[in-house]
Amino acid sequence: VFYSSIMANSCRKLIFNIYIVFYCSAVIMPQICICSQFTSSPIDQFNKDPKAFPVATNGEMFPWHELRLPTVVIPLHYDLLIHPNLTSLDFVASEKIEVLVRDATQFIILHSKDLEILNASLQSEEDVRYKKPGENLTVLSYPAHQQIALLVPEKLRAHLRYSVAIDFQAKLADGFEGFYKSTYRTLGGETRTIAVTDFEPTEARMAFPCFDEPLFKANFSIKIRRESRHIALSNMPKVKTIELEGGLLEDHFETTVRMSTYLVAYIVCDFTSVSGTASSGVKVSIYASPDKWSQTHYALEASLKLLDFYENYFDIHYPLPKLGRFKFIIVFIFRTCFDFIRLYM
Ligand SMILES: *[C@@H]1O[C@H](CO)[C@@H](O)[C@H](O)[C@H]1NC(C)=O
Ligand SMILES: *[C@@H]1O[C@H](CO)[C@@H](O)[C@H](O)[C@H]1NC(C)=O
Ligand SMILES: *[C@@H]1O[C@H](CO)[C@@H](O)[C@H](O)[C@H]1NC(C)=O
Ligand SMILES: *[C@@H]1O[C@H](CO)[C@@H](O)[C@H](O)[C@H]1NC(C)=O
Repeated sequence: VFYSSIMANSCRKLIFNIYIVFYCSAVIMPQICICSQFTSSPIDQFNKDPKAFPVATNGEMFPWHELRLPTVVIPLHYDLLIHPNLTSLDFVASEKIEVLVRDATQFIILHSKDLEILNASLQSEEDVRYKKPGENLTVLSYPAHQQIALLVPEKLRAHLRYSVAIDFQAKLADGFEGFYKSTYRTLGGETRTIAVTDFEPTEARMAFPCFDEPLFKANFSIKIRRESRHIALSNMPKVKTIELEGGLLEDHFETTVRMSTYLVAYIVCDFTSVSGTASSGVKVSIYASPDKWSQTHYALEASLKLLDFYENYFDIHYPLPKLGRFKFIIVFIFRTCFDFIRLYM
């Protein structure tokens, strides 16, 4: 009781500060920027003064010169299939992004950083319905802005939905951003590798081409391929696991709520877990490497108490049906404040 009342006071202050900073930087500022950004439509600009545009890696004109993405095309849903290999330390992946076109356009601009785009194609809603194959798209890359442009052969029509498919690959990143590799030592002294994501604030673009700005919210359906000695975790509970030819397993996760790209998370590792259920029914799991195992039960107990505390404090329910934590209790405290605030702003 003593512990939690101290925490309640200091945490209220902290939450208030975080709230203000976050609200200003993420909610008010981008809207100001977006409102002032578009004086004439991007296509008109391109036709009027092609010299004002940067040059893509292949020498062609890159059709967009702003750091912020155009808002002509917005994402609705991402289907991601990620296949990392913890032996070769790289991953291959494919994604389908369902987009809504708000104004007719000849290109789609996405963020992408250090990804090798293999090919991209586009289907209209009708193509999807009649299972027609997609049209191949030309992909231009402008690394200085971490952007790629998908050029379509025929103008996309306003108010229609399209499905953009992209196949790509990359090395698992060094460092602690994007989809990166990390190692830990077992008690027996063996070094093991895991693959982890950290997308905040703008590193989702290192893991998959996306509209990597907080205002472009969408739902995410994630599938991860792995070996049977590993587990895969993501934001949402697993729906099913299918066995592929050759013995690999593919985990399918439930579709997320509508959210920003930087909240997407996944991990492939060989950790083990303890789980419990908070009074609201949210399942909380603590995953840990074997050397941290002795601390997991304490972490679980504290996490369950904290979740109850936050739910009462904000008078809302944690919006996702599960909560997984990898590190220690202090991480949990801060991250949970953030998660609540973000998902409801
Ligand atoms: C699209 O590209 C793939 C290879 O990337 C090729 O097999 C296919 O024939 C192309 N389709 C069209 C319509 O050009
Ligand atoms: C890329 O090319 C391969 C081989 O032609 C094809 O099977 C795949 O569907 C293509 N992917 C996309 C996103 O167009
Ligand atoms: C990773 O590559 C190794 C061979 O280099 C292979 O044996 C293993 O099945 C691959 N794992 C996955 C998840 O693809
Ligand atoms: C996407 O999320 C919204 C709100 O979070 C939800 O209403 C909608 O059904 C979701 N869409 C899919 C396809 O799951």
